[in-house]
Amino acid sequence: MPVDGKNNWAKTRITELLKIQYPIFQGPFGRGGSTPLLAATVSNAGGLGGYGGNDLSPEELTSVISEIRALTDKPFNINLWVSTFDEGGERLDASKHRPLIELLTPYYRELGVEPAVFADSTPYAPRNFEEQVDALIEAKPAVFSFVFGVPSDEILRRCRSEGILTAGAASTVDEAKLLEEAGVDIVVASGFEAGGHHSAFLRSEEESQIGTFALVPQIADAVKVPVVAAGGIADGRGIAAALTLGADAAQIGTAFLACDESGATDAHRQLLFKENARTTVLTRAFTGRLARGVHNKFASEMKRHEKEFAPYPAHNWIIAPLRAAALAQGRLDLVGLWAGQAARLSRHHKTDELFAALVQDTNKIYENRTL
Ligand SMILES: Cc1cc2nc3c(=O)[nH]c(=O)nc-3n(C[C@H](O)[C@H](O)[C@H](O)COP(=O)(O)O)c2cc1C
Repeated sequence: MPVDGKNNWAKTRITELLKIQYPIFQGPFGRGGSTPLLAATVSNAGGLGGYGGNDLSPEELTSVISEIRALTDKPFNINLWVSTFDEGGERLDASKHRPLIELLTPYYRELGVEPAVFADSTPYAPRNFEEQVDALIEAKPAVFSFVFGVPSDEILRRCRSEGILTAGAASTVDEAKLLEEAGVDIVVASGFEAGGHHSAFLRSEEESQIGTFALVPQIADAVKVPVVAAGGIADGRGIAAALTLGADAAQIGTAFLACDESGATDAHRQLLFKENARTTVLTRAFTGRLARGVHNKFASEMKRHEKEFAPYPAHNWIIAPLRAAALAQGRLDLVGLWAGQAARLSRHHKTDELFAALVQDTNKIYENRTL
């Protein structure tokens, strides 16, 4: 919400806290969707660029952060996942994960590739959050954001003493309160509409499906820390609505993912501008954790088979060769292509043009408002 309650929408508690020009965050993308160029372009334009580092080793995180720093001297956000595996997903288990392999075998055959095979000796380990955090704190980005939980007191204390602001994703009011009680600086109210993984961590995702319009005002009422609205925002109307609902900034994911500077594949980016992106679905079929992407044949055929899925990230590991082959063969009907419900509002292919349009359109809305 604008700090002076007047038409100066661009001055909020978030812009004051982060010393940025506009209350616009580019949502961080895991799994290769982020690039240093995308994050730096948004930060240079006056917003907060973000990079999702959940898949990266500590060394890779260090080098990505210096790449971003080489492109901008403005604040930026690095994102990690507090919980990097679900129960049973910490190791590969041939007997337990056999049903998934059997389920996928016809798809592997169709694509002419060998199914993922593993033995006790297969090198496999989910990322270690604490080790990633050590590298992150050492590199000191302005903002450390996270999903899927609350980091330890020790981590939050170290961030505070290093001057790193923390931002935690909440999909319910209870999660937001817990983040605030732990001492997190900013709450990212993440609505059900958002593309990518559903961020619930206190209760199941199915019990935590709240739309951005309902979630933001309830979280803004429940916590004193600044709130960022995420999910279904793609243009100036969405930003103005988020600020009106009590948010101090808007986080936009899918519309930035559609830009040339993102790390999405060409096919994924092109799809976001097409009619197919109108229908999105929440499914565990692609990684083992619930995520929103464009509805396709694989998501639809997997609907009845949740019992055969493996826990995250074992599921992701087992399906990886299928994903690679499907992408190489242009079989988008078999790949998880993340997209939020507002994907079809994507209009811009260049990040700086999208950012300029967001500012201009929000300006227009506020100029026409009588308060
Ligand atoms: C491809 C993709 C990957 C994402 N990965 C992450 C992630 O690793 N961590 C995170 O906090 N949010 C992640 N998100 C959520 C975004 O940062 C952002 O909050 C969300 O996309 C906003 O909703 P929208 O897509 O409707 O704009 C991801 C979203 C997408 C589309």
